[in-house]
Amino acid sequence: MTHAITLIPGDGIGPEVADATLRAIEATGVLVEWDRVDAGLKAEQETGHVLPEAVFTSLERTRVGLKGPVGTPIGKGHASVNVALRKRLDLFVNFRPVKMLPGLKTRFQDLPIDMVIFRENTEDLYSGIEHEVVPGVVESLKVITRTASLRIAQSAFEFARREERRKMTAVHKANIMKMSDGLFLRCCREVAAQFPEIEYGEMIVDNTCMQLVMRPEIFDVLVLPNLYGDIVSDLTAGLVGGLGIVPGANLGETTAVFEAVHGSAPDIAGKGIANPTALMQSAVLMLSHIGERDASKRLQKAVRAVYAEGKHLTGDVGGNARTDEFTEAIIDKL
Ligand code: NAI
Repeated sequence: MTHAITLIPGDGIGPEVADATLRAIEATGVLVEWDRVDAGLKAEQETGHVLPEAVFTSLERTRVGLKGPVGTPIGKGHASVNVALRKRLDLFVNFRPVKMLPGLKTRFQDLPIDMVIFRENTEDLYSGIEHEVVPGVVESLKVITRTASLRIAQSAFEFARREERRKMTAVHKANIMKMSDGLFLRCCREVAAQFPEIEYGEMIVDNTCMQLVMRPEIFDVLVLPNLYGDIVSDLTAGLVGGLGIVPGANLGETTAVFEAVHGSAPDIAGKGIANPTALMQSAVLMLSHIGERDASKRLQKAVRAVYAEGKHLTGDVGGNARTDEFTEAIIDKL
């Protein structure tokens, strides 16, 4: 069977890591009809829109997307493409598994780090409701709803049950934001009661950051509101080798978009040295999502084998291979 999948290569190193990932997927033998659409700065130059309607038309048809990073101007200009995409398609789960790759040298390489982040993806301070009250005073609204909190908690616990995970940590700052984070916590507790086999705990976000750095091995599944999830998930990426490594998925009821969590890396774009591991690992999740479990496992094994050998790694993870050489090594393993 041929799968129809939307490809959004993105900006900067996006097209380079997307090309490498497509070659790896092709080598698994899975047949894909790619529907390529642009979003981000390139799309803006060509169509005047950072998120053209063609992106939604395609995703509404295919229901599955593979996405490279897109550039977003900081402190000015258009709203984030990622935030807009997640909101409009109601991709309410941001799923980020964080696991050590064999042989990769990190400060934490001897610890058994294997955790999964469930970040709420549609509200919180990312609701984009900001205004200037009077010159020099700006308000940003933090929106937390019972509906969104319950469904992220439900997804996290269902995953934990399915994957036989033992522990769930809800991360919050309800000591200060008693109403908003308080509601988030109450929803997590309500869902936790339906999953008695999973140990449930709560941790304040600042303490969580310290514990993640001092004892990362104690964590299993974490569930967080949007902003803490954004920050904590990058922190956890740093534990296992950085943003060039970890995969991500944005999941909704009907649609899923798999993406590398790093940015468009303008400093190295076009040099042929970007690390495609993050997007390849996102493709591992995507293949499993579309029912190609065997290909998913084989691609995961190939990535882990190339890291274990350590001969064809890119510069960001201590090697000196170019994107192409790394990709060839993956294809050889497949
Ligand atoms: P960045 O992730 O692009 O770069 C941070 C550092 O990590 C740079 O030194 C870069 O060279 C390196 N890096 C990132 N990915 C790499 C890879 N695959 N291989 C090798 N090195 C890699 O973050 P930055 O500089 O904060 O953002 C640049 C642009 O990307 C901004 O416009 C930002 O808005 C956008 N961005 C987009 C995201 C997305 O589309 N999901 C996520 C984060 C940022």
